[in-house]
Amino acid sequence: MEHVPGPVPAKPYTRWYMGDGPQAVILAAGQGKRMRSAVPKVLHLLGGRPLILYAVDAVRVATGSAPVVVIAPGETEVRDLLGEGATCVEQATPLGTGDAVRSVPAALRSSGPVLILVGDAPLIRPETLERLLLAHTSSARACTLLTGAPADPSGLGRVIRDEDGHVARIVEEGDFAPGEALPLECNGGIYVFDGAQLWPTLDRLTTSNAQGEYYLTDVVERLAGPVEAVVAPDPDEFIFVNDRRQLAAAEAALRRRTLDALMLSGVTIDDPATTYVDSQVVVGPDSVIHPMTTLRGGTTLGSGCEIGPMAVLHDVRAGDRVTVAEAVLDDCELGDGVRIGPYCRVRPNSVLATGVELGTHAEVKNSTIGAGTRISHFSSVLDSDVGTAVNIGAGTVTCNYDGEAKYRTTIGDRVFVGTNATLVAPLTIGDGAYVGAGSFVDHDVPPGALAVGRSRQQNIEGWAARRPARA
Ligand code: UD1
Ligand code: CA
Repeated sequence: MEHVPGPVPAKPYTRWYMGDGPQAVILAAGQGKRMRSAVPKVLHLLGGRPLILYAVDAVRVATGSAPVVVIAPGETEVRDLLGEGATCVEQATPLGTGDAVRSVPAALRSSGPVLILVGDAPLIRPETLERLLLAHTSSARACTLLTGAPADPSGLGRVIRDEDGHVARIVEEGDFAPGEALPLECNGGIYVFDGAQLWPTLDRLTTSNAQGEYYLTDVVERLAGPVEAVVAPDPDEFIFVNDRRQLAAAEAALRRRTLDALMLSGVTIDDPATTYVDSQVVVGPDSVIHPMTTLRGGTTLGSGCEIGPMAVLHDVRAGDRVTVAEAVLDDCELGDGVRIGPYCRVRPNSVLATGVELGTHAEVKNSTIGAGTRISHFSSVLDSDVGTAVNIGAGTVTCNYDGEAKYRTTIGDRVFVGTNATLVAPLTIGDGAYVGAGSFVDHDVPPGALAVGRSRQQNIEGWAARRPARA
């Protein structure tokens, strides 16, 4: 799984669009203990993509440049995933968020505005980061941070303001005295610092707090100059993924966003509550998604398609006016007007050209199927190249495997395969040929020929009268 960074959209209305934007640092080295997982927290999937990609993409869109991502030592999977999209630096030991920022080497420390994000805030919008950056540069400040008052603030740092309304400091929940009233305003873990003050202040942090860690939040009260807050415009931006309940909450919020965007772009979704669409899926206008349908990965559908109910599509590239009933499709290409009936399965590396029809209970794997071909029902077409306007009768199987190796079946244009044929690969059936129903075919069939591979029917006259009487 590699994250190929998309083109960064030019933002001519911000001053950072030329690619020399403010520095951004994303903290992704924590152990993620609360996930109780062998997988690093930032690699858990959200909307079909690793969590960390959401913060990285938001930064790239907002600033026009690639962030520095702080990772745990030896996390090659995260490094490989981010590729050119980020500069990874390692935090030797997870000693806290302040220590994570301190792991950025001197050569990468900017003295201008430094945008810092926790890596577990996947619903942060690029527009919010832009607002934060603009607010920070609108007056002389030491820091501008994102705050909010979420319905469930448990576990979040709280914002303490002074009499003038400036942010005085941030106190972690566990560091309040028992019984002390907690402010409602919470820290979103997303800040713009003045780099000239940030880096030297990090070296003055101590671990005298409830968790015995170097808190980035402790930098705030040590800064010279005002610290201001920007309130998050969308409460979903305050969904942080610390455990799997929060992962599910983030998934639900992201799904709502994805479905809303699809509906606003002209897609009908009968029942958003039971429709599961990954964040990168594309659906053309006037398509209809029926209930209990799942669209995963890099699925792209054209316009006027009708999918479901109960279809599951993963990495499907489909043209216009494609219909898919209750079927399971994985890594395949469907031309315009393809129709897939209920209980079909299309497996990876299959290309169904324009107007192909699969009836019911048909399976296609690693095959190319020519335009207008019909594979009506109960057939298994595996490792095959099938021409145009072919009819595959019910119950036909291409036998692709002899227990050791797999072989291909090639079927020409306008071939008619009768019901219940057994086609033993390697096999070639020429253009316009016929295969008789019930045939076993293990020799090539020339173009235009009729292949009949079955024992001839015999009728035994009067047999019933002569058979011994039944008990
Ligand atoms: C942090 C903030 C809290 C804020 C909340 C918002 C601190 C001390 N607290 O708390 O005020 O309300 O985020 O979500 O900053 N990380 C490292 N190295 C470490 C520790 C953490 O890279 O040594 C990374 C984690 O991978 C994570 C991020 O920093 O992405 C935040 O760490 P986490 O432990 O989740 O902090 P919170 O307790 O949520
Ligand atoms: Ca967190």
